[in-house]
Amino acid sequence: MKVHLILLMLLIATEKIHSSRYRRSADPLAYKNYLTKANAILERVPLIDGHNDLPWTLRNYAKNQVGILNITDLTNVEPWASSPSSHTDVIRLRQGKVGAQFWAAYVGCTTQYKDAVTRTWEQIDVVHRLVNANPDTFEFVTSAQGIEDAFRRGKIGSLIGVEGGHSIDSSLSVLRMMYDMGVRYMTLTHACPTPWADNSQLDNAGGVPVSNGLSAFGKIVVKEMNRLGMLLDLSHISRKTMKDALETSVAPVIFSHSSAYAVCNNTRNVPDDVLRLVAQKKGVVMVNFYSDFVTCGISKATIEDVANHMDHIRNVAGSDYIGIGADYNDVSKYPDLFSLLLSRGWTENELEKVAGLNLLRVFREAEAVRNQMAANGVKPFDDWIPQTDMPAESQPCNTGDYGNKTNPIVGNAAVRIQLSSFSFITLILYYVIPWFSLSPK
Ligand SMILES: *[C@@H]1O[C@H](CO)[C@@H](O)[C@H](O)[C@H]1NC(C)=O
Ligand SMILES: *[C@@H]1O[C@H](CO)[C@@H](O)[C@H](O)[C@H]1NC(C)=O
Ligand SMILES: *[C@@H]1O[C@H](CO)[C@@H](O)[C@H](O)[C@H]1NC(C)=O
Ligand SMILES: [Zn+2]
Repeated sequence: MKVHLILLMLLIATEKIHSSRYRRSADPLAYKNYLTKANAILERVPLIDGHNDLPWTLRNYAKNQVGILNITDLTNVEPWASSPSSHTDVIRLRQGKVGAQFWAAYVGCTTQYKDAVTRTWEQIDVVHRLVNANPDTFEFVTSAQGIEDAFRRGKIGSLIGVEGGHSIDSSLSVLRMMYDMGVRYMTLTHACPTPWADNSQLDNAGGVPVSNGLSAFGKIVVKEMNRLGMLLDLSHISRKTMKDALETSVAPVIFSHSSAYAVCNNTRNVPDDVLRLVAQKKGVVMVNFYSDFVTCGISKATIEDVANHMDHIRNVAGSDYIGIGADYNDVSKYPDLFSLLLSRGWTENELEKVAGLNLLRVFREAEAVRNQMAANGVKPFDDWIPQTDMPAESQPCNTGDYGNKTNPIVGNAAVRIQLSSFSFITLILYYVIPWFSLSPK
């Protein structure tokens, strides 16, 4: 009896969490039918989510000590349990039928010109260790094929995206090394401009552009990302930076976690003219679930609100250019969202593309661009950012060692050259000439 009562209460509580206008009003049989179809879609193709901040909570709540943390069920583990911004654990990833996840290697803008690179390495490291500590759930992958292979093995393909260009400290060397450690996208900025790209906040009233989009060096960063096969993520950047990046990039681009500006006019979202450009370039906008970007913070975002953004992007750009980048971090709701979209007339074929096939297409195309550039003999870009592009605030933490100092080795080398020419003349004068004059005619 007691058990039954508890079960009933649990049921009511769960229903409360899951309830939405759609579920209350819809015909339960029709809903069940849609849910069955939605689950089947997510079993056929991997659902690839573009953005998840679990690594950031690992840093803040556990000092990145993933070795001793059991992430199976964090619903009762504080501070995750009461955190408004973390709803990811293994049980919920499996409930949501997540096939692959881009984990965000994010460190805040306060690290810019200070310890951004070190802190970013720590976040890249924690993703690797999270995957290694949970081998039954995760598999580290770095390619489109890798996502598909892991999915077939029942593993959640785990990728890394670096969220914010400040993380490379304006150095293409750092960018390349991060690629080598598995980073497969970089968001060009976070909530601050870098010395080479403007961020979305500069589009707010009173914002003043710094680079007016991408600087000349910013365009080289884009080309180097194309050469490496690292996806460009245009979430968080200003409208002009979006357009510059779309124009400069040879490979298609992604928005890893952004919704439609026409539906909610937050500058983190994508305006219609840019949606059309993304479609022209065959990229993908991975729709965000975060209330500030979905309902402009007016109400808590529901799956209906998210579906409204998706309907809009489908009308403006087409369903070939839509993906999922929840950011919301409640990874368990994807089957519900896909059921709702089926009820709104989206086809199963469209939803397979939205779940993951669109992202796989973009990823494969970026890999093809990388291979083509290699075949064309394009060498690594070895430009350094012009010192004049660096703002004054970058100076206190810089040594000023930019490779333009007189190097003592050069001095020594000059001495060596003098010595060797001296020996050469000596050789001629003392050995070669006498040998000629002495030799019999
Ligand atoms: C982790 O927690 C789950 C339940 O939340 C439990 O079933 C599992 O045994 C735990 N794993 C380890 C290694 O302790
Ligand atoms: C955004 O939309 C709200 C409500 O429609 C409006 O009050 C506000 O002025 C808009 N902001 C901008 C920047 O267009
Ligand atoms: C090297 O560049 C820095 C930054 O522009 C400058 O301050 C410094 O004087 C330069 N050093 C030399 C030896 O030219
Ligand atoms: Zn973000």
